[in-house]
Amino acid sequence: MYLLTGCPKRVKITLKGFSKLKNCYRHLSYDPNVTILGIETSCDDTGCAVVDGKANVLGESLFSQNMLHLRYGGINPLVARDLHRDNIEFAVKQTLEKSKLNASNIDAIAVTTKPGLLISLQIGVKYAKYLAKSYNKPIIPVHHMEAHALVARMFYDIEFPFLALLISGGHCLLTVVKDVDNFLLLGNTLDNAPGEVLDKAARRMKLRNIPAYSELVGGKAIEEAAKCAKNPELFAFPTPLVKSRDCNFSFSGIKEVLMKHLVRKEKEHNAVGDEIIPEINDLCAAFQLIIAEHISHRVQRAVLFCTKNQFLKEDNKNIVVSGGVACNDFIFKTLQNVGMQWNCNVIRPPPKVCTDNGVMIAWNAIEKIKKQYQFPDITLDSIDPKAPLGVNITDKVKKANIYVKATRLKDMFN
Ligand code: KG4
Ligand code: ZN
Repeated sequence: MYLLTGCPKRVKITLKGFSKLKNCYRHLSYDPNVTILGIETSCDDTGCAVVDGKANVLGESLFSQNMLHLRYGGINPLVARDLHRDNIEFAVKQTLEKSKLNASNIDAIAVTTKPGLLISLQIGVKYAKYLAKSYNKPIIPVHHMEAHALVARMFYDIEFPFLALLISGGHCLLTVVKDVDNFLLLGNTLDNAPGEVLDKAARRMKLRNIPAYSELVGGKAIEEAAKCAKNPELFAFPTPLVKSRDCNFSFSGIKEVLMKHLVRKEKEHNAVGDEIIPEINDLCAAFQLIIAEHISHRVQRAVLFCTKNQFLKEDNKNIVVSGGVACNDFIFKTLQNVGMQWNCNVIRPPPKVCTDNGVMIAWNAIEKIKKQYQFPDITLDSIDPKAPLGVNITDKVKKANIYVKATRLKDMFN
């Protein structure tokens, strides 16, 4: 039995009758045994999962295209779309099999509708609509970035409000999460995302030619190479946006500096073709270090801004770090150190759900069901590739003009 709302009066109807009514909202009552099928196709991963109301993952499936796109220097939207199309049916089938459920037993289908690549999002939404129609199930639309921010609550007891840092191949932002769908945007990247520059740098440094890294995504390959560094101070990088008293990010400048260091060293060693410079580990360490320092610098200002405006609970300040780059242990440990300094807990979901996945989409739907949200019927027009996250208060942050000394992490190597 579902509750239909949004019509002049709330009416209780049976599930069978639902599909005949138009322009109405569905409302699913929370029950710990509720099961949600989540579908994620916003970028280059076809992710699918069934999650129940008690936060159990009953089954999941992930088809990652990352390595393929990396070889060609970035995500090719047409290739991404075609691979989603090839994989979506199997991903759903496999997930349901692992869950020991069939589509008719699922209570609702959650799908990413924004933001992301239009033609990739369309595949997920079309398939979700097909399933919803075939099995007469409600669809729950999900904002990809909101899902990244909330998935930590599936694993840890984190109350609202909290601060979230979302760092991935497509995004870099700082947000106050006030509630399930109530976000304040404190800062955003002005150019590239950190995962994007890590991937491009790894490709240009030819890390794939080192057998131990040949199967790793760019960010992970740089993290591993950095562990072998002997002299991370060999390469200097300027700290981005050091004079901008806001919480925005910029990674394009340090990417250019990395390219200059690399070209200079390649010339010096006469490294041509597939040859790799001998200082590669030091270069990776210096690059990872400046990324960690830049991110930490902005996070500190965000903490001070939130404290000043009482956006976080004084006795329980939590910072959630999520998105693919959050898998980086060096960056995460750096943020934990920053957290200790400012009396904040720094928490990340398990690395498997930091990267794009179907679990976070299904979980987001459960969070909404618990809050008794109403779900409109979605169409392809509901897709919004450029959807912002929350209320943008980046100007307010700038106006607050909070000074924070640039973070220096050299000590971590000693
Ligand atoms: O969240 P995600 O799966 O997809 C996007 O929305 O972009 O993030 C993928 C990004 C890639 O750029 C990848 O290089 C990066 O996450 N990444 C890492 C690590 N593992 C994945 N970056 C740094 N260190 C890692 N260990
Ligand atoms: Zn993502």
